[in-house]
Amino acid sequence: MSDSSVERQASSAEGSGAGRPPRVDGDRDPRLEGRVLRRVAFTEDRIAQRVRELGAEIAAAYPDGGLLVLGLLKGSFIFVSDLVRQIRRPLQVDFLVVSSYGNETVSSGIVRLVYDPQAVLTGRHILLVEDIVDSGRTLSRVIDVLKERAPASIEVCALLDKHHATHLAHPPRFVGFDAPNEFLVGYGLDHAENFRHLPYIASLE
Ligand code: IMP
Ligand code: MG
Repeated sequence: MSDSSVERQASSAEGSGAGRPPRVDGDRDPRLEGRVLRRVAFTEDRIAQRVRELGAEIAAAYPDGGLLVLGLLKGSFIFVSDLVRQIRRPLQVDFLVVSSYGNETVSSGIVRLVYDPQAVLTGRHILLVEDIVDSGRTLSRVIDVLKERAPASIEVCALLDKHHATHLAHPPRFVGFDAPNEFLVGYGLDHAENFRHLPYIASLE
């Protein structure tokens, strides 16, 4: 990045009125609204490679039967779209929406089901796709709801697992990466609805 473009970004951050002091360094990303990355935890290439592997693992795990990939919105939207293109077998895709953290970075423990999948779940093999498992509360709550619809099976695929959830009845069968103990953004993960569109996964200062 040229010096002049770094200066331009610094001055636009200053002018954004976000109340944070502008900082200038070599790897500013204009998508960050003036925030500074602590570090990139998983690069775009590394994610793509792991998603290809997960797709192959999932295809091998489901030799037959109707597979329904259920993405938990919003955090899984990028992961689901990349993942399903790497699963070389027939499948269908639907989504559900729960609300958990609000705008905080600490779990409130409150999980609400906001949008219910439209697809018939009875007798289907469900692969629930989650962006990140932290306390596991979101997952447990959603699985309880889905089980009432009598699917043939339920498994979980999580892009990231923080391994804080030790008593899960349904630990994720497919995991992209072990997550570091930091608040992560990008590739669908947000902080107060920002940064979902970063193509990499990073922690912020
Ligand atoms: P859990 O219910 O504590 O397992 O939290 C899971 C949900 O919290 C995820 O689906 C995310 O929406 C959010 N979450 C947990 N950790 C992070 C993080 O590091 N960055 C962004 N969102 C997170
Ligand atoms: Mg979130």
